[in-house]
Amino acid sequence: LHVIHIAAEIAPVAKVGGLGDVLTGLCRSLQKKGHLVEAILPKYDCMDYSRIINLRELDLELPSFFDGHMHKNKVWSGIVEGIPVYFIEPLHPAKFFRRGEYYAEPDDFRRFTYFSRAAMEFILQSGKRPDIIHSHDWQTSVVAPLYWNVYVPLGLDSARLAFTCHNFLYQGIENSEAIAACGLTVQDLMSPDQMQDNFFHNKINLLKGAIVFSNVVTTVSPTYAQEVLSPEGGKGLHGTLGAHSKKFFGILNGIDVEVWNPATDTLIDYQFTADNIDGKFVNKQKLRERLGLGNQGGDERRPLVGCVTRLAPQKGVHLIKHAIHRTLEKGGQFILLGSSNLPEVQHEFEVIARQFENHPQIRLVLKYDETLSHAIYSAADVFVIPSIFEPCGLTQMISMRYGTIPVVRRTGGLADSVFDVDDERIPQEKKNGFVFDDANEGSFNSGLDRALNYYIQRPEWWQDLVRKAMLVDFSWDSSADRYVDLYRLVLK
Ligand code: ADP
Ligand code: GLC
Repeated sequence: LHVIHIAAEIAPVAKVGGLGDVLTGLCRSLQKKGHLVEAILPKYDCMDYSRIINLRELDLELPSFFDGHMHKNKVWSGIVEGIPVYFIEPLHPAKFFRRGEYYAEPDDFRRFTYFSRAAMEFILQSGKRPDIIHSHDWQTSVVAPLYWNVYVPLGLDSARLAFTCHNFLYQGIENSEAIAACGLTVQDLMSPDQMQDNFFHNKINLLKGAIVFSNVVTTVSPTYAQEVLSPEGGKGLHGTLGAHSKKFFGILNGIDVEVWNPATDTLIDYQFTADNIDGKFVNKQKLRERLGLGNQGGDERRPLVGCVTRLAPQKGVHLIKHAIHRTLEKGGQFILLGSSNLPEVQHEFEVIARQFENHPQIRLVLKYDETLSHAIYSAADVFVIPSIFEPCGLTQMISMRYGTIPVVRRTGGLADSVFDVDDERIPQEKKNGFVFDDANEGSFNSGLDRALNYYIQRPEWWQDLVRKAMLVDFSWDSSADRYVDLYRLVLK
């Protein structure tokens, strides 16, 4: 099959969170299975250009429609982790992607509808005729309505459309006229069964458009696929999903087990495997030294609790704060690596970071730092993910791959990948972590306290758990097969 992904992120070049990891992991896995896979992204100024191989400008002037007339774009091609990627650079609304941030900007709706239209134009004009066009999240949701309403009439009609929603919280809702800019006719699409927002009847909803107009719609775990059918989980789109339930599926994400591999990872101090986890202990000592945490006189025996996250409300920010204090009470050490694009949340954590500035057991690092994230996964004993909701979550899988045992709330993809060691309904061989139910401190403690008690009181049992977690198969292999099955189904 020939599959073209259109998305806002691809790791490690342009990554805000898990979407970037998924793009790379899924594309690479599809490639290994013999499919022709390409991706189209905006050419952001803030990307990590050092990770793109063979970046070159194509000999092609790409005009694309926006705001009533044609605009010129440059198109660049390059290789990211073995995947051919096209980067679109708008020349006239040049400021669109020349910024310090990928998104969370007031004009995101315009920037990404512009990009989606230009990406479709590139497919048409380059003569590519993919079997599947696969777009992701609200940023590229307008691809589906554009395809049927603009591009099929232009003769680009052999493709089928796949759409993956990684988070139903972000939908791309705007005044209805806003979609006219990229060439769609507002009157045609402003109906309850098309793109009219289910709450605000004078607004247009891009995510809804992707659900309505794609041939197959997926989200990133089976449990989240159930949760979003409820009013609370679907953030207003449960009715739309219900109406399209026959083409809606939950497929659990994988992780790229070559990128995330403690046996070969060059970003960590000591590589290690499930057969010999000694290196993990050395990584812990190194990280403590580097961050100025206590490392002797008994401190070296303290369990190290880690957390690597966007500090968004979805992640259970109040429980992350609580986790710092609870770990201290229970005699552990805590490292948080996180950042927020909400100034008030960032500020709140900066205050806490200052409070613990020279504390021997607590360290908060409030930024995005790829290298430090690997160090934490490789060094920590316990990893906390107290999310309010979590479509899939990758950090629980990454931590397990590095022998770090997750404590998670039972929601979304966390519920599909972490199985409590004390849950009698779970077969022994599947048990790999600690799960709690409610988004409050008492419930969270029931998970974290058990983890820390086991670590302190049953060291050998803990080592067995570490080995078991490292051996769980979180690769993309079987999930990519499920995507291929769905691609084939819609091509029939
Ligand atoms: P989400 O996409 O909702 O942020 P995921 O668990 O799916 O959550 O993916 C998060 C990804 O982003 C992981 O690869 C994680 O390591 C990475 N990440 C999150 N915060 C940071 C940070 N501050 N520094 C480095 N990597 C981070
Ligand atoms: C979103 C979700 C996260 C998921 C990621 C990749 O960012 O918040 O749960 O793992 O997308 O699908």
